[in-house]
Amino acid sequence: MMQELNYKLAVAPMLHRTDRWFRYCVRMLTKHTVLYTEMLTVNTLLHTDPQPFLFFDPIELPLVLQLGGNDPKTLAHCAKLAESWGYSAVNLNVGCPSDRAQAGGFGACLMLQPELVAECVATMQATVTIPITVKHRIGIDHQDSYAALAHFIELVSQAGCKTFIIHARKAWLSGLSPRENRQVPALDYAMVYAIKQNFPALKIIINGGIKDLQAASSHLSSVDGVMIGRAAYDNPWLLAQADSYIFDKPAFDLTRQELIQRLIPWIQQEVSKGIPITRITKHLLGLFYGQPGGRLWRRCLSENAYMSGGDPAILQDCYAACSLK
Ligand SMILES: Cc1cc2nc3c(=O)[nH]c(=O)nc-3n(C[C@H](O)[C@H](O)[C@H](O)COP(=O)(O)O)c2cc1C
Repeated sequence: MMQELNYKLAVAPMLHRTDRWFRYCVRMLTKHTVLYTEMLTVNTLLHTDPQPFLFFDPIELPLVLQLGGNDPKTLAHCAKLAESWGYSAVNLNVGCPSDRAQAGGFGACLMLQPELVAECVATMQATVTIPITVKHRIGIDHQDSYAALAHFIELVSQAGCKTFIIHARKAWLSGLSPRENRQVPALDYAMVYAIKQNFPALKIIINGGIKDLQAASSHLSSVDGVMIGRAAYDNPWLLAQADSYIFDKPAFDLTRQELIQRLIPWIQQEVSKGIPITRITKHLLGLFYGQPGGRLWRRCLSENAYMSGGDPAILQDCYAACSLK
């Protein structure tokens, strides 16, 4: 029996951001929010030592591995690896518009090949017992009708995918950088709501432009879950309310300063294994987002962490120097 994840809230997969150090820090704030890895291409997993890419701390669970690829067999092989490493689910990236993804024939361009996505999902799902999910766009280039989106979901769900994460903005494959394509064209939440209405048995997770838990909560009356990307990275403290506000579970009750204290022994351990401290502190730059002294903290930590000789006391020093509360 496949284990159901509670997808009410997730932090989006983000390259160069949702690495294992960011995820560990986030997990200190919320036990229940689903976390995602950065996208890993099947080529990376097949042609290099997968250990550094797949390793995670069990505290990060529930954790979904996101894969980029388009070959059913190799995707299935990588899904098996993910299962053996203990990931909660595997997600197939059908939303990335980058040139690299297009050149490799994976990511958003796969929306034009729903049959191939269905075959990938079916082969992966036949290989593992953890869920295979798909993250995609509402449309791509000139294929942006509701009918095309519904056809995609129909085929891929028949292949065994029961959870769809829909980025409510269509992908433009030429003329816009991936960064620009995260701002334009306009978001269309209504299209995602309509999918939930027409496919009530599927889990539909909405993504794109959701800035806080209040907005997340209002989407939850129309869909099964919400995925937040940039807002959660820029202002991770918003996740401190997630367990109580979204999951109706015991509230997180540490202050930011207590959180820093709690992270210090772990940072020490990571540094002793040779991890540069800046690899971790960069994820904490947004900890005081919107607070008096928050910008100063950002500057103090980014300017001084690399000169700290790896000593996590730099976090306390910056805290004290910025008169934070
Ligand atoms: C820096 C960055 C890297 C991203 N990398 C990925 C990725 O690896 N896989 C993916 O599916 N989406 C990726 N995305 C897209 C996000 O998952 C998300 O769909 C998008 O940012 C919209 O959500 P938001 O408005 O809440 O940020 C990335 C976004 C950003 C900002």
